[in-house]
Amino acid sequence: MIRIGIIGAGPNARTHAHAHRDSGEAEVVAVADPAEGPGRALAEETGAHHVRGFEEMLDDVDAVVVSSPNFLHAEHAIAVAEAGKHLFCEKPLGLCLADARRIAAAVTDAGVASAVGFSPRLSREAQTLKHLLDSGRVGELISIWSRRLMFLPDDAFGGWRADPGRSGGLLLEVNVHEIDWMMHVAGAVSSVHAVTRTTLTHGPRANDHIWVTLSFKSGAVGQHEGSWRSATPNFSRGLHGTAGGGATDEWGRGVDAASLGQDREPAELRPAVDLRARWRAAIRGEGEPHCDVAWGLEVMRVAEAVFRSAEGNRVVRLDEPGLSG
Ligand SMILES: NC(=O)c1ccc[n+]([C@@H]2O[C@H](COP(=O)([O-])OP(=O)(O)OC[C@H]3O[C@@H](n4cnc5c(N)ncnc54)[C@H](O)[C@@H]3O)[C@@H](O)[C@H]2O)c1
Repeated sequence: MIRIGIIGAGPNARTHAHAHRDSGEAEVVAVADPAEGPGRALAEETGAHHVRGFEEMLDDVDAVVVSSPNFLHAEHAIAVAEAGKHLFCEKPLGLCLADARRIAAAVTDAGVASAVGFSPRLSREAQTLKHLLDSGRVGELISIWSRRLMFLPDDAFGGWRADPGRSGGLLLEVNVHEIDWMMHVAGAVSSVHAVTRTTLTHGPRANDHIWVTLSFKSGAVGQHEGSWRSATPNFSRGLHGTAGGGATDEWGRGVDAASLGQDREPAELRPAVDLRARWRAAIRGEGEPHCDVAWGLEVMRVAEAVFRSAEGNRVVRLDEPGLSG
């Protein structure tokens, strides 16, 4: 049994805690949250004990899930790794590239197993689109695209999410998932051009609407449009290549595939990936995690390029000073 501690007791931490407990491979030993109400509630539900400060539980656990607000991820993840505990860090991997580098270095130095919570890439649809490419059905990839347009009501913008200095805005809080998915399918990025707009949040790097064009090293192009204040929600993804392509519906459900010039047909959906199970297996030394902090660092390099591109209204190459390596 892997002894797991959870940092943060919000809705996302609850999902992690229950999934680990229900797996039969782990027990949730402690929940750390300075807020007494949610901390105690989640601890009681999962048979754990509640502590206010995460330092109080580190001696009692083998592994820790960091599910605190984004601006605390770097502090928490680094402390977990430095204590020699296996790390599952929610996205984003800190609020900037320097944070991600420090987290990745701490994990490497400690030699612990790690994973980053890039969950939307795990879905059956996301894996099916990837499989269309990997199996050769698409041919050579020309374009990959995603839309993640949603509407978050005003009351969702209380607290840290409303402050881009603490959440990273739409890009780091939500739509970094789409950058991750496109990289998961299409590989390394060579350059980025991005535009952002703010209509709701304020401050440096505020971004409520984003448009990102990625040039991949393979020659393929990725396009993403995102918003958390859109009147027309849309969660579609697709790709096409020299031989065929595939796309979800506007809600991201199902995948239709077609060979070039042929009618679309529903594709058989591939299995979803269980990110938490892969992390637990890696902890036991039985395999590689699905996306570790080294991968999270690569995603953060691209996210940093998105910010630079939007700020400077220019194409940003991933090998430019400060981004490379
Ligand atoms: N991967 C995904 O699909 C996914 C989905 C939802 C949320 N998330 C991420 O999970 C994290 C938490 O999201 P949420 O919706 O549960 O947030 P939330 O704001 O609802 O909950 C955060 C919790 O952390 C606690 N907290 C604050 N300071 C703390 C500290 N110093 N130590 C320990 N706990 C502290 C708060 O009291 C709160 O209970 C965020 O990083 C978010 O981006 C990921």
